Amino acid sequence: MASIKKCLFPAAGYGTRFLPATKAMPKEMLPILTKPLIQYGVEEAVEAGIDTMAIITGRGKRAIEDHFDISYELEHQIKGSSKEHLLDDIRNLIEQCTFTYTRQKEMKGLGDAILKGKVLIGNEPFAVILADDLCHNPKGTGVLSQMIKIYEKYRCSVVAVQEVDGEEISKYGVVSGRNIDDTLIMVDDMVEKPAYEEAPSNLAIIGRYILTPDIFQKIEETEEGKGGEIQITDALRSQAKDGMVIAYKFEGKRFDCGNVDGFVEATNYFYQKRKEEDLLED
Ligand code: G1P
Repeated sequence: MASIKKCLFPAAGYGTRFLPATKAMPKEMLPILTKPLIQYGVEEAVEAGIDTMAIITGRGKRAIEDHFDISYELEHQIKGSSKEHLLDDIRNLIEQCTFTYTRQKEMKGLGDAILKGKVLIGNEPFAVILADDLCHNPKGTGVLSQMIKIYEKYRCSVVAVQEVDGEEISKYGVVSGRNIDDTLIMVDDMVEKPAYEEAPSNLAIIGRYILTPDIFQKIEETEEGKGGEIQITDALRSQAKDGMVIAYKFEGKRFDCGNVDGFVEATNYFYQKRKEEDLLED
């Protein structure tokens, strides 16, 4: 049986960097080519053997629920037409998993959003995907799949990290620790969005986590941190100090689709990939 069965998607944020596009539409529904960001995340989770998606939504996020549901009218309309196959992927995805939802009423940080998911997760280890961070591994399995293998060996929380250049580091949670091997680090400290001069390393946490369920207690004990918000980075630091947390330099690409540059980069990448696949089919 799969060791990680549930994946949490914090999706309550406003997406102000994409206004006005996100005025009435959730940022998670912005498409890279023809597929919304959150669907890429759900596909990555399904590929990792996960069958339950726990989505933390908020006001104005109904489109996410509708997306992962059957659209009888639309399906009836296009049945038998040349367009019908365009719904194949999403229909298969919906059949393979269960979607559960709860709302975060106030924006109090990523730690708080994850804590809101306790009711959907219960007392078991789980994955977290931040849909803004779009990952793709052209050489093999997805990032979450890679992380679950590490969880199965070490049975502790695992965060995905990436080396970033210079001042960029202050946009991220940053880890430091002792190398276990070329890709794994035993974390001894973590800081949320440090100033460049104070960053303990150039290793930035990206939006993929495997968390053990004691994280909920840790979040409850975590005080407001950077930006006056409850930070998952602070709760994880406490887990690292009391037990063990591993940082993993993943294999693959990651696009920061939370800003326009990364979004366009991802669009170009997936467009190119699709063109190459189309050429292979011809
Ligand atoms: C969040 C986390 C941060 C992490 C980042 C990854 O920040 O708080 O530690 O490095 O996601 O994308 P946000 O980008 O939501 O400000």
